[in-house]
Amino acid sequence: MELERLLQSQGFGSRKMCRKLIQSGAFAIDGVVHDNPRESIDPTGLQFTLDGETWDYREHVYLLLNKPEGFECSTSPTHHEGVHSLLPLPLAVRGVQPAGRLDQDTTGMLLLSDDGPFLHAMMSPRRHVPKRYVATTKHPVTEEMLQALRNGVLLRDETEPLAATDVMSPSPHEIALTITQGKYHQVKRMVAAAGNRVEGLVRTAIGGLPMGNLELGEWRYLSPDELLSLPYEVPQTGK
Ligand code: URA
Repeated sequence: MELERLLQSQGFGSRKMCRKLIQSGAFAIDGVVHDNPRESIDPTGLQFTLDGETWDYREHVYLLLNKPEGFECSTSPTHHEGVHSLLPLPLAVRGVQPAGRLDQDTTGMLLLSDDGPFLHAMMSPRRHVPKRYVATTKHPVTEEMLQALRNGVLLRDETEPLAATDVMSPSPHEIALTITQGKYHQVKRMVAAAGNRVEGLVRTAIGGLPMGNLELGEWRYLSPDELLSLPYEVPQTGK
């Protein structure tokens, strides 16, 4: 792959900008500057530095972010900052998108990627990817509320009741539950329909993959094993 195209694919700007960066001597492999933008390089397993910062070549990126409150998942956020502002610029530039949305006041696990089929697999309503949440509630949780969530509650504008699985109450004002759909404000509306009110919401797992120990606002790349554990078949080309 030509160097300028390689750098562009990793989110470092337009072809012209990448050409200029390379010509300026900013790009190096193993400490050796490569300043010919047309040089052909095999990107598989490539590690390079740009202005002294180290990067691994990645055909696609798969990220895990612990979303803080007050950030929107939209690419054109209106009332709050977008989650993209929590990522290094090249990751945003290369078109990383959240796999589904969390409300601005919901915290926790968000997967992001620039791999379209992966995003589709994670979000497709037909795949029923389970998502686990812990809701903090205004009123004490009762057994009737938990049972209503297990049995299914009918939300306005829905034709079928929506049920949650693995519903439990870890503490008197908390409900942990798993849903497989991604309807608008689904958990908040389900808890309201069961007779309580959500005052705080955290997503703790997606597709069986737990959030783990990331501080709020922190992100990391998914490991190959984590990616394999998700209901998505990674294409065989040089990932
Ligand atoms: N359900 C909600 O109500 N809000 C979210 O952000 C996610 C699920």
